[in-house]
Amino acid sequence: MDRFKSSARLMIVSDLDHTMVDHHDPENLSLLRFDALWEAKYRHDSLLVFSTGRSPTLYKQLRKEKPMLTPDITIMSVGTEITYGNSMVPDDGWVDVLNQKWDRNIVMEETSKFSELTLQSETEQRPHKVSFYVQKDKAQEMMKALSERFEKRGLDVKIIYSGGMDLDILAQGAGKGQALAYLLEKFKAEGKLPNNTLACGDSGNDAELFSIPDVYGVMVSNAQEELLQWHAENAKGNPKIIHATERCAAGIIQAIGHFNLGPNTSPRDVTDFLDSKLENFDPGHEIVEFYLFLERWRRAEVEDSELCLASLKAVCHPSGVFIHPSGVVQPLSDCINALRRSYGDKQGKQFRVWVDQVLPEQIGSDTWLVKFNKWELSGEGRCGCLTTVLLNSKDASVSKGFTWVHVHQTWFDGAGSKDHTTWLF
Ligand code: GLC
Ligand code: MG
Repeated sequence: MDRFKSSARLMIVSDLDHTMVDHHDPENLSLLRFDALWEAKYRHDSLLVFSTGRSPTLYKQLRKEKPMLTPDITIMSVGTEITYGNSMVPDDGWVDVLNQKWDRNIVMEETSKFSELTLQSETEQRPHKVSFYVQKDKAQEMMKALSERFEKRGLDVKIIYSGGMDLDILAQGAGKGQALAYLLEKFKAEGKLPNNTLACGDSGNDAELFSIPDVYGVMVSNAQEELLQWHAENAKGNPKIIHATERCAAGIIQAIGHFNLGPNTSPRDVTDFLDSKLENFDPGHEIVEFYLFLERWRRAEVEDSELCLASLKAVCHPSGVFIHPSGVVQPLSDCINALRRSYGDKQGKQFRVWVDQVLPEQIGSDTWLVKFNKWELSGEGRCGCLTTVLLNSKDASVSKGFTWVHVHQTWFDGAGSKDHTTWLF
């Protein structure tokens, strides 16, 4: 990752289903709390890595369904596919490693002899991963029988059971742990080993993540039996691994605090946002807080006070403008006035606002250009736009924060054709 000249402050390597993403929380509250914390406090100097069992197809589907951030690195198909950045450029070096001693045809041939194995969908069959469903009570016996078969055929593979139903057969060098070890090696060779790494997971295929040396680990409170059992047998006395008392992403935030890895108060846990301004004087935090305010304002979760609007106005540059994604240009202060009408217009409705990839760039002694993706989720679906904000810190002590000089938004592809009458900022 060439985004940094030096080591990342923190690298989080997290599983998605039932770890980062709580499928039992339709409101996605812990995920949104994590998102706000990451964008306000970590995005600029830390690395976010998602490590999922899902194939690229199912991973992209999940991204559409849930308010997930964009990771710096995506590890998919149980550590068999590593990609970098927004355009998900594959790591071909990793493919070469996995090609050694792997013969997919033998795997298919041997597994076809077991009627207890049900092949998963076509999308989940990948070049270095073959996946089945197996009943929980048959799992151990099947794994043993399969290992014996493969050994006889001279094939060295890895068999992993997860979630009490999924059986993955991978190239021996693969797996979430091996993929992480490979990444750490790469960073080390570049002299950019992260200062700290935190692995987060809930099921069997995550166990390997916790056996990589020097890595902190959190098993979220809702971790599966097979992972807890692995822990009891292999890592019980290791103080670098905890079993959180909180579910999913809330457990990740808990671990950040437990291991002292950095700030662990999500802006979503702070209600008095005017007060927190001076303490958190940084451009990323400013952006996260503003959009959180917008969500709360429209959900009628902040006091409908003129004070709020006045303080927002105070941070708008007198000649500041806002370029709405529709192309309409308005003075910033007019936009703030227009907010008055929208107070509570989303009360009692499904409405969330979040920002992704908030990357501030200092372009002058007191000027920052912040680029990010802003998303809104409402009953009608989700839409987003690329946003650029110019912030000035000259009069910070007077206005208690940055002055907003310029805001410019453009719809993401395809979003322009929808009805966006309620899109404000
Ligand atoms: C994901 C994948 C599936 C795999 C499971 C466990 O659900 O889609 O193929 O078996 O993770 O690794
Ligand atoms: Mg999981």
